[in-house]
Amino acid sequence: MRSTNSKLRKTNIKLAALTFLLFTSNLMACKSSMEEDLAPADDVSSEAVVSANELGDEQALAGSFHLKDYTFKTVFDFPIGAAVVKERLEEPLYDKTLRKDFSRLSSESNFKFKSLHPEEDKYTFEKADAIVEYAKRNNMVVHGHTLVWSHDGTQPKWLLNHKGGAAEFDRLLKSHIQTVLKHFKGKVSSWDVVNEAIADNGEFKNSIWYRKLGREYFFKAFKYAHEADPNIKLFYNDYGQEFGGKKMRTIMALIEEAKQRGIPVHGMGFQLHTVLRITVSKITTNLALAASKGLLIHISEFDVSVKKNKPKTFILDDLLAREQGEKIKAIVKGYLQTVPKKQQFGITTWGVSDNDSYFNKAYPNRDHDYPLLFDKKYKAKRAYRGFIEAGLGR
Ligand code: G3I
Repeated sequence: MRSTNSKLRKTNIKLAALTFLLFTSNLMACKSSMEEDLAPADDVSSEAVVSANELGDEQALAGSFHLKDYTFKTVFDFPIGAAVVKERLEEPLYDKTLRKDFSRLSSESNFKFKSLHPEEDKYTFEKADAIVEYAKRNNMVVHGHTLVWSHDGTQPKWLLNHKGGAAEFDRLLKSHIQTVLKHFKGKVSSWDVVNEAIADNGEFKNSIWYRKLGREYFFKAFKYAHEADPNIKLFYNDYGQEFGGKKMRTIMALIEEAKQRGIPVHGMGFQLHTVLRITVSKITTNLALAASKGLLIHISEFDVSVKKNKPKTFILDDLLAREQGEKIKAIVKGYLQTVPKKQQFGITTWGVSDNDSYFNKAYPNRDHDYPLLFDKKYKAKRAYRGFIEAGLGR
């Protein structure tokens, strides 16, 4: 009897020890995963270049998951978009890449004031309509960019030379917005109503609309848009407010004032034409600030320039490509972790591939940056992989 009791005691002690061990190991796992979840998105600064071996070799990476098994449509439950140029839709690789991954189209220029309304009594919708048609054929939604851009350099001459005071420009503003929204009613589900109205110092930029109507043009634009089509989502779109400061404070105050005046601003576009050295926690802080007001949050013109400190005709080597991929992964993770699900309007890249990026069109020497997710032959880059990995929670 005694020997049985002592054996039983020993077994119980072993069981208790095993249980304790299991308990503590689970506790550690839970703690580390919580730390991981709570830690801000990784901030891969340009100093902490992620070297090839730290990432593990191609096989190890490839072994973890096969990129070809995923697309943005299967990984994300909000639209990933691309800004398109109508003429490129006929290009096979451009078309194929768009249809495989993207479910929202914006446009670099085809929906802008000058493109749609080149003369006072003339509207030209053909190119924008072609984009709407393409989107409809391919089950994509369209985001209109942009009704009012506070930048005289993009306005048609007739507008800048137009005679008249506040009443006349109020009429022009209203007629442009309501003519365009009437034309696209039921076809374009969201618009950048006002784009880039505020300077870094928090002041209104000097533009024809500001000169003629003062700050009221901001509120009038949203009011006229909502009257024309109460069913579409109306955005304020800008760059650099992700850093906070005076610009972000003014934008938030304007949106709050609009709300107090019963004028809807449904969302904010953070363009995020950004760079490798960006500190991701700065971005997420301001995404969170905008989201805290109930706004839909659109990363609306996403690209990550890698040309800083590079010679004019540098190539994208693997290390730089990986660094760009890690940065994009951290930003997309930051968006997913910071913006409440129902406010995640989506992420739109400013172009489809490095071949058609505006970075390489707006500068005299082409091929001088690689800011997008697909390379010049429309092959998925590390940037694309990082975007997918963020969506997979890796
Ligand atoms: O369509 C005309 C063509 O008929 C004419 O022959 C040619 C002569 O220069 O100009 C063509 O228009 C060009 C237009 O793009 C369409 O390609 C304009 O000159 C050119 O200035 C315009 O550049 C666009 C720029 O906005 C100004 O509208 C860029 O493609 C576009 O990527 C850029 O996008 C902006 C966003 O709207 C706002 N956020 C910043 C972003 C980058 O600057």
